[in-house]
Amino acid sequence: MLEFKNISFKYEEDPDFIIRNLSFKVNKGEFISIVGPSGCGKSTVFRLICKLERPFEGNIFLENKNINTLEKGYIGYMPQNDLLIPWRTILQNCSLPLEIKGENMKEVKYEAEKMLKDFGLEKYKNKYPRDLSGGMRQRVSFTRTLLTGSKVLLLDEPFSALDAITRLSMQEWLLDKWSKLNKTILFITHDVEEALFLSTRVFITDGSPIGKFREIKVDLDYPRSRDMLDNPDILRIKAQLVEELKKGVRL
Ligand SMILES: Nc1ncnc2c1ncn2[C@@H]1O[C@H](COP(=O)(O)OP(=O)(O)O)[C@@H](O)[C@H]1O
Ligand SMILES: [Mg+2]
Repeated sequence: MLEFKNISFKYEEDPDFIIRNLSFKVNKGEFISIVGPSGCGKSTVFRLICKLERPFEGNIFLENKNINTLEKGYIGYMPQNDLLIPWRTILQNCSLPLEIKGENMKEVKYEAEKMLKDFGLEKYKNKYPRDLSGGMRQRVSFTRTLLTGSKVLLLDEPFSALDAITRLSMQEWLLDKWSKLNKTILFITHDVEEALFLSTRVFITDGSPIGKFREIKVDLDYPRSRDMLDNPDILRIKAQLVEELKKGVRL
């Protein structure tokens, strides 16, 4: 579904590469989490997939097509600091990606209303972002990302600003949507437990430059429940991941 082939990248003003000869593949329908220390270049990986940055070397393929040949809207991207536009209603916020694509406004409204209804957000459609709780706003952001129509969704630390309890219920909400929608998800987090609970595989990097992801397959069935994380194999993997991440932290 998505492939990185020998990608190297550096920001112009930086002397050092933050991604060095990185290759990986993601299969259709997978839920992949990327875990790594802050500042190592995780968000940059997403920015490359969106063509917000261009690789220095290498190519990125989506369904075997080089992304350089693709039109906008090929990817659903929820950036780390994704803010809803305060002066637009929830419905107008959700409609944005379709409007940008230049689709018929009547159709746009219909699609956005349908999705909000499917997600139980219909009664908020004429409200403004300030009227909603943090968890609700993230649901709206996710809805907006889905409305790009893309098969691959990139979610950059979507739950990191939420309180612990809201976060747990949002994880369950997201898994439920993923299982119904048949999408491929790449999800950045630095929460090891969140990564293990959600993912089919976890990609770990222990620092800069990102040269290779270590991959861990999470051998648990879906639907998932919290108690599955008490499985001895999972506990072992979790302890190992936490140790590895600690190594990459610069205090
Ligand atoms: N637009 C940018 N221009 C220059 N440097 C950037 C830009 N965005 C991020 N960086 C730098 O690149 C490194 C990786 O950033 P980022 O991909 O955001 O890391 P992460 O998401 O893993 O925290 C950081 O050192 C950051 O300061
Ligand atoms: Mg980031």
